[in-house]
Amino acid sequence: MAHKIFFPQDFIWGAATAAYQIEGAWNQDGKGESIWDRFAHTPNKILNADTGDTAADHYRLWKKDIGLMKKLGLKAYRFSSAWARILPAGRGKVNPKGLAFYDQLVDGLLAANILPFLTLYHWDLPQALQAEGGWEVRSTAEAFAEYAEIMAQKLGDRVKHWITHNEPAVVTWSGHESGEHAPGIKDLSAALYVSHHLLLSHGWAVPLIRRHSPNAEVGISLNVGWRVPASNSTCDLDAVRMADGKWTRWFTDPLYGRGYPADISADFEKQGAPAALSFIQNGDLQTISTPLDFLGVNYYNREVIRSHAEDNEPQTLFAQPKTPQNWTEMDWEIYPQGLTGVLARLYFDYKPPKLYVTENGASYSTPPNENGRIQDDLRIAYYRGHLAAVQRATQAGVPLAGYFAWSLMDNFEWAYGYGQRFGLIWVNYATQARRLKDSAKWYKNVIRRNGF
Ligand code: FCB
Repeated sequence: MAHKIFFPQDFIWGAATAAYQIEGAWNQDGKGESIWDRFAHTPNKILNADTGDTAADHYRLWKKDIGLMKKLGLKAYRFSSAWARILPAGRGKVNPKGLAFYDQLVDGLLAANILPFLTLYHWDLPQALQAEGGWEVRSTAEAFAEYAEIMAQKLGDRVKHWITHNEPAVVTWSGHESGEHAPGIKDLSAALYVSHHLLLSHGWAVPLIRRHSPNAEVGISLNVGWRVPASNSTCDLDAVRMADGKWTRWFTDPLYGRGYPADISADFEKQGAPAALSFIQNGDLQTISTPLDFLGVNYYNREVIRSHAEDNEPQTLFAQPKTPQNWTEMDWEIYPQGLTGVLARLYFDYKPPKLYVTENGASYSTPPNENGRIQDDLRIAYYRGHLAAVQRATQAGVPLAGYFAWSLMDNFEWAYGYGQRFGLIWVNYATQARRLKDSAKWYKNVIRRNGF
């Protein structure tokens, strides 16, 4: 492959993590319980009864981890703060030790010349707020604004890239409709309230962050999949419309001033959520559509969608054969072109002034060989394909400013626990030793040469 791929000089190369997935120290130094602590401590919720109690022990090993980031040559690091470390009861009294942790982390990153990209909510709601109704109630959105302001007041002089929420669609549907994620609720109507309060909390937080963090960029990270119909039957096409509407447009449309998509709220009503939008108050939609500096995009895979309609025609599923080259261990189909498609669609449809890929990566459990080397060629192939796809989007005119690999290191993969490994860095959970995988060394060269 003689074809060379280069990125703009100021392209931001990063890697991402999230608090609950790496920190551990779930009850240390005054931290309050979160819904993920509670969920993981509930039997039969997480594969192998894994929990994030210790995770990758990053709360203790953060200095070492910054050292590894430096070794990789990362220009930026995306991480999240644990709300319950800052405000153990969700609002009110601040836990100084919790705040100090992120304060030191940010200073450490800056000293290593790494830009901090801070996500305020990567799914770990304080359990105390869940007890009051969680995201189903409006007061949780108010508490989020309080938390966002505290973080911006403390770190706004140094953190210049803020992400309010990570994947509100996953919080909404996986947390409150299917119940696979914390808090494990299975109720469509509840989920609709949740989606609105997440978006509202985002809209309230944006100006508060800007007030305390002058010249900062503020955005949100959305998971946007590439969905195609299994056949061109009417019902498969309609299933794609619904899945895309529910997972993408339900969030992008209100964020970009279009309100909630009418076709999807009609679908929800048919599914028994009659009061679908009755909780919207005057001014909410305006708050939600506060202009953003960037849109963060998390992309992993393609989904071939088929309708469950009984009169569906015979399927012509064209997904690729199930080989490790085509499917990752998450059972996610690899489809790099989908990333070009997603970026182009979001830009040309909604015109965000700037985009970042805030997550992209692959789960392969390739262990160290007898020499301790981790030859994760499949992960390298995944990154190669997706970075080429990213570059194609920039050539088509998408203002993409940076890319974050998911993940910096192996970590707690939510309902799947530790079996799934997305890291560039191997973590031995028994010893907490870290080791660069071949993909990390490859990525380091990509960063150094600004291409491959
Ligand atoms: C995303 C999450 C991230 C990680 C990846 C694999 O949905 O934002 O925390 O679990 O999936």
